[in-house]
Amino acid sequence: MMLQKDPAALRGEKLYEGKAKALFSTPDPSIMLMEFKDDATAFDGKKKGTIVEKGYFNAHISAILNRYLEQNGIHTHFLGQLSDRYHLVRHMDMFGLEVVVRNIAAGSLARRLGMDEGTLLEKPVLEHFLKADELGDPWINAYHVDAMGLCTPDQLAIMESLALKINRLLTDHLETIGLTLVDYKLEFGVDPDGNVRLGDEITPDTCRFWDSTSGDKLDKDRFRQDMGGVEDAYAEVLRRLTTGQS
Ligand code: TMP
Ligand code: ASP
Repeated sequence: MMLQKDPAALRGEKLYEGKAKALFSTPDPSIMLMEFKDDATAFDGKKKGTIVEKGYFNAHISAILNRYLEQNGIHTHFLGQLSDRYHLVRHMDMFGLEVVVRNIAAGSLARRLGMDEGTLLEKPVLEHFLKADELGDPWINAYHVDAMGLCTPDQLAIMESLALKINRLLTDHLETIGLTLVDYKLEFGVDPDGNVRLGDEITPDTCRFWDSTSGDKLDKDRFRQDMGGVEDAYAEVLRRLTTGQS
């Protein structure tokens, strides 16, 4: 049973509001509150909607997966789940960079490289995107990252090695509950001590999860592609993570 604490008791100023989450200060400057919202967007905000109870599902899913990574030696921003829609997270300076990890061709990689969706990639592929909605989050490489000063080359190397380690951990863990981890987006930052940590969220908003047997999509592609069954898919991912059963 999760302890339900009232976020209002800790919630200070709103520091940031994105499409799916908001961040608030707390009385401790090293800790923030992260709220998971029901709002959903796709295609750089061109498509907008609500996924009923998404904030609830995502807060629980991301808590379970962050906890799993922490238990396996990955440093994250996650400090604990305060209530159904709120996490306590470490204050971090984010790099303004999205790191996408791909195991199977789908989405923009399938389109860009002319691959059939579902083609197994021989090795995991890492891609970097600039976080800039007005530009449609353009694809960039390590030279752009360096020239734009988004992070140091050492920090990029740490992020890439963390991303590959996270990929091994998540892929194996999710396979035990019948979920194939197709691709996903990670965001990293530095904590006040200068350590690179995983931030943001790990949810069906930011990952493609396919049922390992049927290939059914259990993620935000159901919303992007108007497939229906969006809420049921998020609930199913949470059910499998909670019960440990596929
Ligand atoms: P893509 O195929 O559209 O490039 O997406 C790759 C993965 O990254 C997919 O699992 C969805 C996730 N993603 C986000 O979380 N946020 C984004 O803004 C984009 C473009 C993708
Ligand atoms: N979340 C992003 C957007 O709003 C992209 C996506 O997930 O499709 O555009």
